[in-house]
Amino acid sequence: MSTAKEPVVQVLLDPDWASGSLVEDVRRGFAAHPRALPPKWLYDDAGSDLFDEITRLPEYYPFAREREILIEHAAEIVTASGATTLVELGSGTSEKTRILLDAFAATGTLECFAPVDVSEATLRFAAEQISARYPGVQVEAVVGDFTLHLAHLPRSGSEGGGRRMVAFLGGTIGNLYLEERAAFLGALADTLESGDSLLLGTDLVKSSDRLIAAYNDDQGVTEKFVLNSLRVLNRELGADFDLDGFSYIPFWDAHMERMDLRLRSEMPQRVTIPGADLVLDLASGEEIRVEISTKFRVSKIAAELEAAGFGITRVWTDDHGDFALTLATKP
Ligand code: SAH
Ligand code: TRP
Repeated sequence: MSTAKEPVVQVLLDPDWASGSLVEDVRRGFAAHPRALPPKWLYDDAGSDLFDEITRLPEYYPFAREREILIEHAAEIVTASGATTLVELGSGTSEKTRILLDAFAATGTLECFAPVDVSEATLRFAAEQISARYPGVQVEAVVGDFTLHLAHLPRSGSEGGGRRMVAFLGGTIGNLYLEERAAFLGALADTLESGDSLLLGTDLVKSSDRLIAAYNDDQGVTEKFVLNSLRVLNRELGADFDLDGFSYIPFWDAHMERMDLRLRSEMPQRVTIPGADLVLDLASGEEIRVEISTKFRVSKIAAELEAAGFGITRVWTDDHGDFALTLATKP
């Protein structure tokens, strides 16, 4: 008898994780030079909705380019992976992932889809939708942090025989620093078994004009998204950031080959963050880094993956050479 499979949602973030981990991140980040915030705090419910808006902006080419690559090569990716479980890290709405899920539906080989995200509401919504659309696939969503919870990724079937492919799309790996990327890729390689694979989406180095435009759209959606991180601190930690006292400064760091996305204090101001026991005196012009977005060359992606113990199976780029998808396999 075949029955519709309800999505399962596993919550690995403990209830006070948000506040505990946020306090540590804020203390560490605001003591650094430049002052900095870690990226996962951009994605509360409002932030996730704003990011979804970013993906539809004409300037934000990475989403459309990665989508083009998936449309063109999904069948090949699915066959090459031989996977029965698809894990997706930082899945958000899993919009582009549906292209892969459609290709898996055509082969009928996928048993389990496991999206992983810190943003619980967005994840639950996506899990429901995908479960309804792909009735043969068991959806096992994980509310978790991909820098902490890689050892708990689901695999299909109780006997756990099949292969897994881990999709990490959207260029999100570029939001990690080099050392963090190495730790993340190493930990991922450790949890995978021989024959399992990683499908990694990375934005590529290109002209600074286009890069800056992608992170500084005309409608100001990206600025709202970045400023929302201060709103998270106001709400979660009782901080008194005045959002009007900051302007958004995105710039291309040509030496590090990354976008550096910052907020600049427009005046000398004192901010209190009671939940973290902090008082910040910001000088006029002082900057807070909210995110980096590293851009890659194909050689750099391959080197980082190989250093972590992966073998490169295939690399695809779009027709404009803007974005790359790499399928890497654990030997
Ligand atoms: N994969 C989607 C969304 C990318 S946005 C796409 O390609 O369009 C980045 C996503 O990663 C957001 O949904 C955010 O909530 C999630 N995220 C950021 N840091 C995370 C972390 N440490 N652990 C799990 N999810 C994280
Ligand atoms: N992973 C996305 C990227 O680096 C995240 C992102 C898109 C982002 N637009 C942003 C992060 C603006 C901060 C600010 O492209």
